[in-house]
Amino acid sequence: MSSSFFCPTKLVVSDDAANDLILELKNASPDGVFVITDQGIMQNGIAKPLLQALQIAGFNPVIYDNVPGNPNIPDVKLALEKVKNKDISHVVAIGGGSVLDTAKAIGILLADKDLDYEDVQWKRQQITKGSLPVIGIPTTAGTGSEVTHVAVIGDRNGFKMGVLHPALFLKTAIIDGKLMVSLPPRLTATTGMDALVHSIEAFLSKKSNCTADIFALGALKSIVNWLPIAYRDGSNLLARNAMGIAATWAGIAFDQSSLGLVHALAGPLCGNYHLHHGLGVAVLLPATLDFNASAIPVDRWESLRNALGLPTDARPQDLGNWSREFLKSLDMPTHLSELGLTMDRIPMIAESATKMAMIGLNIRSAGLEECKQVLASGL
Ligand SMILES: [Fe+2]
Repeated sequence: MSSSFFCPTKLVVSDDAANDLILELKNASPDGVFVITDQGIMQNGIAKPLLQALQIAGFNPVIYDNVPGNPNIPDVKLALEKVKNKDISHVVAIGGGSVLDTAKAIGILLADKDLDYEDVQWKRQQITKGSLPVIGIPTTAGTGSEVTHVAVIGDRNGFKMGVLHPALFLKTAIIDGKLMVSLPPRLTATTGMDALVHSIEAFLSKKSNCTADIFALGALKSIVNWLPIAYRDGSNLLARNAMGIAATWAGIAFDQSSLGLVHALAGPLCGNYHLHHGLGVAVLLPATLDFNASAIPVDRWESLRNALGLPTDARPQDLGNWSREFLKSLDMPTHLSELGLTMDRIPMIAESATKMAMIGLNIRSAGLEECKQVLASGL
């Protein structure tokens, strides 16, 4: 089967994000930079060296620092109010997935003032004028949003409707582990597990892509090695840098290859129980791997086993228990009941999961009954 690979985002693996940001803005006008971030990033000082560097370089950026977690279209509109009468040429996003996705939406809305984002979400209005250049500086190692061409923004009712378009690729992603050292251990673990699941699901997708496989396996090998270290010692810069780039590789992999059953189940599970996405996918992983094991072909298993550093006599059926032990090493729960899931809610969550697009690309076909079975076995 033919496969193509397209990721036009410039990737800067940085040892000084402030310096590299200024280099990326060499064509920007002093008043043309719009910085988007959130309150947490501002309060814990992560944005400070970046904003200082902008000032020293002669920029007078407009700053919007109020992006919430799980942003909706009214949040995007609030941010746009800030630059209503300004001539913005570049957008800079400093934050996690919510900030990056908001910046992606703002990039296309500033490039085409007639565009209605909800019409893009619901009425298939076309994005025809591309995006302003958006430079993303992730502060977590997880979502991979810095290298994907999707933005997940809720509509006015909070319904999450992802938009997929090449215009949503960032111009540049600057990865600097120093910006991640203050991430608390629990968030380090949940965001890191999100990246781990991205790499496994991309590799096991029915749409897996031979080029993206290299990124998926590289990410997996690195995450298995470095996530426990980053969790135990957040100040370990080697671990932070390794996790930062591995999460980006995992993002490249799943953007090209898609995701699978874990993410299909995680959408409704996390929505119903208000769970952090990374926590939801992490605890869904063991039961899903148990389910998928019999469908993993021998050649893919060998690559996966090598990336995970498992012994040569390990079998796909061992994957579920491997993931339970890995979760325990991060002090994370291994049962869905620990997240609050109860038997009576399983049919509703399973039903919603069957409507998620990525479920059709899971390596083993899964319908309603299989979704129920996986959730029940994960309790
Ligand atoms: Fe994810």
